[in-house]
Amino acid sequence: MFKKTIGILGGGQLGKMTALAAQNWDVPLRFLDKSKDFPAGKVCPFFEEGDFKDYDDVYAFGQSCDIITIEIESVNTEALHQLQKEGKTIHPSPSVLDIIKDKGLQKAFYEEHDLPTSAFILAENKNDILNKIDKQEIRLPFVQKARSGGYDGKGVAVIKNENDLENKLMDTASVIEDLVEIEKELGVIVVRNESGETAVYPTVEMVFSEEANLVEYLMSPARITKEEEESARELAIKTIEAYGACGLLAVEMFLTPQGEILINEVAPRPHNSGHHTIDACMTSQYAQLIRALYDVPLGSTEMTSPAIMLNLLGDPDHTGNVKYVGVNECLALEGVKIHIYGKDITKPYRKMGHVTVVDSNEEKLLEKARFVKNTLKVVSD
Ligand SMILES: Nc1ncnc2c1ncn2[C@@H]1O[C@H](COP(=O)(O)OP(=O)(O)OP(=O)(O)O)[C@@H](O)[C@H]1O
Ligand SMILES: [Mg+2]
Repeated sequence: MFKKTIGILGGGQLGKMTALAAQNWDVPLRFLDKSKDFPAGKVCPFFEEGDFKDYDDVYAFGQSCDIITIEIESVNTEALHQLQKEGKTIHPSPSVLDIIKDKGLQKAFYEEHDLPTSAFILAENKNDILNKIDKQEIRLPFVQKARSGGYDGKGVAVIKNENDLENKLMDTASVIEDLVEIEKELGVIVVRNESGETAVYPTVEMVFSEEANLVEYLMSPARITKEEEESARELAIKTIEAYGACGLLAVEMFLTPQGEILINEVAPRPHNSGHHTIDACMTSQYAQLIRALYDVPLGSTEMTSPAIMLNLLGDPDHTGNVKYVGVNECLALEGVKIHIYGKDITKPYRKMGHVTVVDSNEEKLLEKARFVKNTLKVVSD
C-alpha cells in the first residue's frame, strides 16, 4: 500500500512499537542503531548497525530511505540537513530538531512565539551562575537544566538553598528557570501531517508517588476541568504549528495552582506518555506517526477506555539476565495489557516494558494499577 521506505534513527522500544504498527500496512521500514539485539531489531529485519550520532553513518543510512524520522533527539542533524538538501523527506525537520535538542534555544523559541513557559535566563557554566547570583540576576530557588544531553531527569537540578548551590550545581551551559509551583504535570501528544492537518490526544496526567517522589502512573484522561483540558489541547496545537513540525510532538506541561498552563519541554517523536494509546485509543501514537509521515488522513485520537500506564522498570537491587515475576497474577485481571520490550539485561530503573490498564470505572482502574505495581516485578535470575 505504501512504497516509500521509512528510516528510523534509533532502535529502542519506541522504534519497536512503531515497527509493530507499521507492519499492519506492510510499510518498508529500516532502523539505524548500535546493535540488532536492541528492541526494534527483534521485529524488523532491516536493521543497520551504526551510530546515529555519527555523520557518515546517518548520511549513508539516509541514502537507503525516502522518509527519515527519529525515536531519539540526540542524532547527527548535520547529516540530516545534507540529506534534506538532497531531497529526502525528514520529519521532524532538522532545523526543528536543532532547536529542540538545545533547551536554551527551545525556551527562547517559546518566548519568541508567545507560548507560555516559565521565566528563564541562560548561563555559560557554574561560575557564570554564581556571578549572576551575586548580581541578583538569578535568585534562589531555581531549576538548572543542562542545555543539551539531559534525559529522564538527568541534567536537571533543583537548587533551593546554599547547600544545594554547593552540592548540586552542575558546571555546564545551562538554562536557569524559575521554580514553578506545580499542581499537576500534564502531557499532550499532538500530530500534524504535511497537509497541515492536526489531531490531539486527550491529556495525560502524571500521578506521582509521594514516598518515592517519582512518577508512578500516567493516567488519561487527566483529572482536570474541561476548560483546562481545552487550554492544554489548544496549546499543543499552537506549539506544533509554531514549529511547523510534521509527525508527533509530545508536549510536557505544568498546570499551576492558579490554573495557568506552561510548556515545560517537547519531544518531536513517539513518547512514553503515549504508550497507552496502543490499548486505549482508536489510533495509537505509532500508527499516527506512520500516517503523518505518508501525509495521509490522520486517525481518530478518541479513547476507547480510560487508562493508566505504568513503566516496568528494572528493580533497583537487580542487574543481570532479566526475569519477570507476577506475570500470571496480572494476566488474570481483565484489562491488563503487558508490553515487554525484549531487553535481555535488567539494570536498576532501566525501562524494560510497560503495562496499560483499562477500565471505565476510575476506582477500579486505580485499584488494578496498584495491584500491578505491587505484583509485577523486573528482577534478575
Ligand atoms: N521550572 C521548573 N519548575 C519546577 N519543576 C520543574 C521545572 N522544570 C522541570 N521540573 C521538574 O523536573 C522534571 C524533569 O524536567 P525536564 O522534563 O525538563 O527534564 P528531562 O531530563 O527532559 O526529563 P524527562 O526525560 O523525564 O522528560 C519535570 O518533569 C518536573 O518535575
Ligand atoms: Mg521532561
